[in-house]
Amino acid sequence: MTAVPAWQRMSWPAADFSRIPYSAFVDPAIHQAEQERIFRGPVWCYAALEAELPEPGDYVVTEIGDTPVVVARDLDGVVHAFVNRCAHRGTLLVRTPRGRARDFTCVYHHWNYDLRGNLQGVPFRRGLEGKGGMPRDFALADHGLKRLKLASYRGVVFVSFAAAVEPLLDFLDQPMRRFLDNIFAKPIEVIGYVRQRIPANWKLYYENLVDDYHGIMLHPFQATFGIARATQEGGSIMDAQGRHRMVYVVHGTDSEDDAKAGYEGTTTYNTGLTLHDLSIADFRDEIGDGRAIHMCAFFPNLLVQRLSNTLATRQIRPRSAGVYDLYWTYFGYRDDDPALRLVRLKQINLVGPGGLVSMEDGEAGRLLQLGIKGDHKDAHSVIEMGGVGDVPKVADHLVTEVSVRSFWKNWCELMGVGPATPTARVV
Ligand code: FES
Ligand SMILES: [Fe+2]
Repeated sequence: MTAVPAWQRMSWPAADFSRIPYSAFVDPAIHQAEQERIFRGPVWCYAALEAELPEPGDYVVTEIGDTPVVVARDLDGVVHAFVNRCAHRGTLLVRTPRGRARDFTCVYHHWNYDLRGNLQGVPFRRGLEGKGGMPRDFALADHGLKRLKLASYRGVVFVSFAAAVEPLLDFLDQPMRRFLDNIFAKPIEVIGYVRQRIPANWKLYYENLVDDYHGIMLHPFQATFGIARATQEGGSIMDAQGRHRMVYVVHGTDSEDDAKAGYEGTTTYNTGLTLHDLSIADFRDEIGDGRAIHMCAFFPNLLVQRLSNTLATRQIRPRSAGVYDLYWTYFGYRDDDPALRLVRLKQINLVGPGGLVSMEDGEAGRLLQLGIKGDHKDAHSVIEMGGVGDVPKVADHLVTEVSVRSFWKNWCELMGVGPATPTARVV
């Protein structure tokens, strides 16, 4: 009989995922299992924006989980994705982050592939003067790059390793597709990239993305300068399975008195912080919905954001149980006037590794990872803000962390672990 690995014997004392074992964040065996069951499993992972590949021959490299992947537009304009690994001996094939090419040649022995990942040339395949070479029955067609399924919605490219994954439109579900319709209503262009490495488990970041409770407490800049406060109108909505989640906050819907009363006794508001140049906090309501925060997390590796006037995708790339990388792709609309483009570039300082708002998210993950190391056996986080039991799909306030529980429900289903009789239905 095969022994059950230790990580599958984690304790799940609450059927509604309101207790999460800390070992889920530190065990290298779980990191390995996640690669297979989640990132190479039956889900769609974000890979790129089509705007990064406008012309035939354009490509970007990415990572899905810890697997290197290339996304390339072929000479007919069709976008493909394949594992960035030479079919000969496994060398990383494409070594530049992005560019334009007619084909790809491996640096090691110069095997050459077309933009669809087909092997089209092997130097010395027939040997030299009758000596050496590949066996006569070696067929190029049998040695292409490993292909991924690819589908895009509104120019956002998703890939999957799983042949049996559900169609992308079903995976995204409403109202998440409506969110993408809104953000990608106009042609975009990429205006910059940032990447950062955070010494924490990637799930601590996904938890952060779907946790409104932290958003109203951790970020004093956001509260002090009115970008998002608990006392403003806001809420969230999830898909039917509670995998993805959109949150919004409506600018200017509270008064200074509301904020003072709501945040009384905390250090998040009324901090004494001042700005010499207020324009960085100056939200321009370019879409007309008043939402200075409008973002959507897509399980397992993406956040699409509109924060004030910054637009970006954030891609999560787990590196080990205790480290993940975050890749930020900033974009604007092609029809931005120069003044608006300048505002977007300036407000990039709100987010990213050193951003006035999101710097704290990386630090919170680091502190969590530090806090749970060592003697965490049979220790669990407590997730009860917003209620226990079933997970409501819609909230009209921000004082909640229920979506963290539905994240774990989906994680457990994919990993084949969890409470014996889970009860947290998404309702
Ligand atoms: S490893 Fe790529 S050509 Fe040999
Ligand atoms: Fe945050």
